[in-house]
Amino acid sequence: MNGVGTLGSETEHRARHVAIIMDGNGRWAKKRGLPRAIGHQRGVEAVRRLVRGLEPMGLECLTLYAFSSENWKRSEDEVDDLMNLMRRFIKSDLPEFVENGVKLKIIGDWRALAPDIVAMLEDALAQTANGHQTLAVALNYGAQDEIARAATQAASEGEITPDAISQRLDTHDLPPLDLLIRTSGEIRLSNFLLWQAAYAEMLFVDTLWPDFKPEHLGQALDDFARRERRYGGR
Ligand code: IPE
Ligand code: IPE
Ligand code: MG
Repeated sequence: MNGVGTLGSETEHRARHVAIIMDGNGRWAKKRGLPRAIGHQRGVEAVRRLVRGLEPMGLECLTLYAFSSENWKRSEDEVDDLMNLMRRFIKSDLPEFVENGVKLKIIGDWRALAPDIVAMLEDALAQTANGHQTLAVALNYGAQDEIARAATQAASEGEITPDAISQRLDTHDLPPLDLLIRTSGEIRLSNFLLWQAAYAEMLFVDTLWPDFKPEHLGQALDDFARRERRYGGR
């Protein structure tokens, strides 16, 4: 429980599930006169650093927004760069995930990605199935699409109720979302976890994603532990 659980107050609580909108790779590169691709590379390094620092934070699940269903609107070159980074990242870091008990989960319409990436991801999911800490990665993810798919399925199987939808979302087997963080200073959700965010706490930080360190997540968890959650009651 690094950095959390130190307050001793009765309202203190520990986060189980944190999600991050990893934003600001392009601006990080631009500030340095570098191509956007370098910003994305450094963004992958920030992910690696964070996953390596995850164990002592005691989270059950970390969900990362890596590629949105709207990110296809970017140039072909940039989309190619992002897909190639994904290929390389899975290849290089999968053994470490297995060794460290990181259980991979993918949310979003990821089966529509290139067939070789789908195959790599299926292999990675199988290899990490016994892990104890979940790393959920949102790929080709759009919350409206996720909700529409869940609602369609619920309708075909019975009544459309909030529970019926929740149970059919891509996140149905994850703990409730406690904290949603966005880096880079933008204050919007960009179609991420719209349903799950209903009562999540929000934290918007100015740090650009490539500069994000495990310490920043530790601070966010401390901040979260001090918040009072009310869920509409008093
Ligand atoms: C986040 O960084 C990475 C992805 C969306 C894949 P951006 O590429 O959005 O960086 P900015 O927002 O242009 O700085
Ligand atoms: C959201 O960031 C998607 C990811 C971080 C993967 P964007 O940079 O795509 O969002 P907008 O376009 O600024 O809303
Ligand atoms: Mg952005």
